[in-house]
Amino acid sequence: MTAMKYLLPTLLVLAEGICLASGWVPIILRGRPKGGMLGPPREKRPGEVLPQPMIFNLQRRDHFSGSRVYYWNQRYFVNDAFFKPGGPIFLLIGGEASADPLWLLDGAMVEYAKTFNAFCVLLEHRFYGKSQPTNDLSLESLTFLSSKQALADIAAFIDDELRIKFNLTNNKLITFGGGYSGSLSAWFRNKYPQMVDGAVASSAPIYMDLDVGSYLATIVDVMANTSHPACVKETFTATNTIFDWWGQPDKLEKMFQMFRLCDRIDHDNLIEPSALYSALADNWQLVAQYNGVNRTFTGTTLNTTETTINTLCGIMTDGTRGPSIQRYADVSNLILEKLGKKCLEFKYQKLISEMKQESLESSVAEGARQWIYQSCTEFGWFAGSDRGQVPFGPYFALPFK
Ligand SMILES: *[C@@H]1O[C@H](CO)[C@@H](O)[C@H](O)[C@H]1NC(C)=O
Ligand SMILES: *[C@@H]1O[C@H](CO)[C@@H](O)[C@H](O)[C@H]1NC(C)=O
Ligand SMILES: *[C@@H]1O[C@H](CO)[C@@H](O)[C@H](O)[C@H]1NC(C)=O
Ligand SMILES: *[C@@H]1O[C@H](CO)[C@@H](O)[C@H](O)[C@H]1NC(C)=O
Repeated sequence: MTAMKYLLPTLLVLAEGICLASGWVPIILRGRPKGGMLGPPREKRPGEVLPQPMIFNLQRRDHFSGSRVYYWNQRYFVNDAFFKPGGPIFLLIGGEASADPLWLLDGAMVEYAKTFNAFCVLLEHRFYGKSQPTNDLSLESLTFLSSKQALADIAAFIDDELRIKFNLTNNKLITFGGGYSGSLSAWFRNKYPQMVDGAVASSAPIYMDLDVGSYLATIVDVMANTSHPACVKETFTATNTIFDWWGQPDKLEKMFQMFRLCDRIDHDNLIEPSALYSALADNWQLVAQYNGVNRTFTGTTLNTTETTINTLCGIMTDGTRGPSIQRYADVSNLILEKLGKKCLEFKYQKLISEMKQESLESSVAEGARQWIYQSCTEFGWFAGSDRGQVPFGPYFALPFK
């Protein structure tokens, strides 16, 4: 989760008229890695046939307005390979990314399905992937994007499509989800208790919180608990050095080289420090969020079993690499290499011009724009760095200065 900087209207003004290269969003944005959630439990096997997309074509665009009714196509996938008559329905709720049918072939829910002879189904979340209720992502269109609408989608899908089409009238139903979709799983049971017999909510944030102080604090706990306990102290030293160097033109040039920045630091731009400190903290967030989980990020060599917080802390405490700031750069450069990136993007204005794109074909339509919209209108869940023992520099805070 990155900070409030992506929100403040006064800052948005600064982005006007700036046109820069397209295709960049931060590697992790408010707890959401680019591309979405945790990747599927495994890769597709050669020749393997995945569940085919199916469409519920009578989903309402607005469940809470009695006036004119618009319908849209909501995508879903089923796997009935484990099902035996009378078995339960396991409904996996899609989250803030395109729904991936591999989740119906492997993972914990599938293991349970084998035991309980369950009918497995995955429902894509409105505004993500191919489930688009509108033809663009303008602010007007996004007014139909909310968790409340998504929960009503699930209810309509169960009653008007799933139970009827697959003759599952009386079967018990359990919802599943992880992260935000885990929240939906829990909220669905709470709001529609008559429709669900049980809910599994993994790693699910349940309460809205503008500033989630525990997010970065937890990362610091994990850093302190590695086999390199000086990691937190060294990280403090590194970010303090960045502060010391900020006022020195030759040092700014040095940081540009050291951190392989895509653009030079603009000393007079007051948002610049927050943007850079935040981009460097993103490395730690990305690795911490999937620490030790056996996954590779699609299309990259970042393997979360190989590159862990312990790996990063090993670098931070390795004196042979030079001063702490150099080690902090080494951490960042390692992640750049793993992700196949040539340089580190950090410019706030660049981010804003990306995020303003409204077309469904734009780079941010993969989910970044939708997720920021949901964060701003509903959830918060920002992670300010200005408290406690957070060593990433106190410059990306809720009152973004
Ligand atoms: C990790 O994932 C790889 C690739 O999917 C798999 O071959 C391997 O068995 C997994 N290892 C563990 C310990 O689960
Ligand atoms: C629907 O399910 C019920 C209960 O499992 C079964 O008795 C019935 O034969 C099924 N109907 C069809 C058309 O498959
Ligand atoms: C610290 O490490 C120990 C041993 O690996 C582990 O059991 C414990 O859960 C860890 N605590 C935190 C906060 O990560
Ligand atoms: C990640 O790397 C570990 C250690 O090299 C390997 O065992 C594992 O299979 C890899 N995981 C994936 C998903 O490729």
